[in-house]
Amino acid sequence: MAKGKKVTIIGTGNFGSTVAFILAMNGSCHEVVLRGRSIDVAKGKALDMSQAANAARKHTIVRAAKNAEDIADSDIVIITAGTPRTPGMNRDDLLLKNAKIVKNYSLEIKKYAPEAIVVVVSNPLDAMTYVALKTTEFPKERVLGMAGILDAARMAHFIYEKLEYGAGQIRATVMGGHGDTMVPLPKFTTVAGVPIEDLLDSEEIGEIVRKTKNGGAQIVNLLGDGSAYYAPAKSTTVMVDAILQDSRQIHSCAVMLNGEYGYNNIITGVPAMIGAAGVEKVIEMTLKPLQKEKFKKSVESVQELINKLYQLNFFKEDVSDEK
Ligand code: 2OP
Repeated sequence: MAKGKKVTIIGTGNFGSTVAFILAMNGSCHEVVLRGRSIDVAKGKALDMSQAANAARKHTIVRAAKNAEDIADSDIVIITAGTPRTPGMNRDDLLLKNAKIVKNYSLEIKKYAPEAIVVVVSNPLDAMTYVALKTTEFPKERVLGMAGILDAARMAHFIYEKLEYGAGQIRATVMGGHGDTMVPLPKFTTVAGVPIEDLLDSEEIGEIVRKTKNGGAQIVNLLGDGSAYYAPAKSTTVMVDAILQDSRQIHSCAVMLNGEYGYNNIITGVPAMIGAAGVEKVIEMTLKPLQKEKFKKSVESVQELINKLYQLNFFKEDVSDEK
């Protein structure tokens, strides 16, 4: 357990609350701060979770932020705020609305928690991480997005569903943007080191790739009024724990590329080493031509969203009314 560490979660909906609950149950940090639109809801959830931490014999305290100043001295700030998808929407439909929300909270972080590492989980994920990075003007190592861990977990689930063995031993890899063009990589996916291509035929693998890409939408359609939160929240805490414990683990995360994979000034999902400094290294895998082509398409779809924001003068505009 990392002593004295403070993690702030912006957004007290299902996603933010579940992230807080997992951190409190793991005793990952000393203090979790919940910053939401309703202080009473944040207070109620904070009390409930602090009491749960006591039941679990953990000493994480969960508090509600009364105002923006309360996020001061956070080691990590997680931005979950934003409108989730509903049936029929794709993640990109949320672009401008959520960009305004993320921009406003990023300005708060810049002002009150200038040393924090920012983990973004609002959608459309890669573009929102870009908004947070450009708005905070933090070094690129300190702003990263969660998505690859979730998409890989979904792929692992679908592999297990098909195989009916190997639970907990499946290591799946998904790169690219967290959207319809994400790139599941069966060639970099194993069960206890055994390539899945030795365990499943190409039709079965194709089905797993399709299910992985559709994994979020499948849950949106079933829930009817929001998107998934248990797997997204757990995936977020994997990143938070890697930072707090300085574990330098490799996870697929949305990070700013600076020449890696041949791209610049774009955020997308790639394997990265995560430690106390945030993104400590972007890992470059050797991709085959078809994989490169798919990755390119995915990067281009993120770029399109970012271009839209520039066309709307988003990075100049005053958006102080949105939260
Ligand atoms: C998902 O894929 C919320 O984007 C998230 O479920």
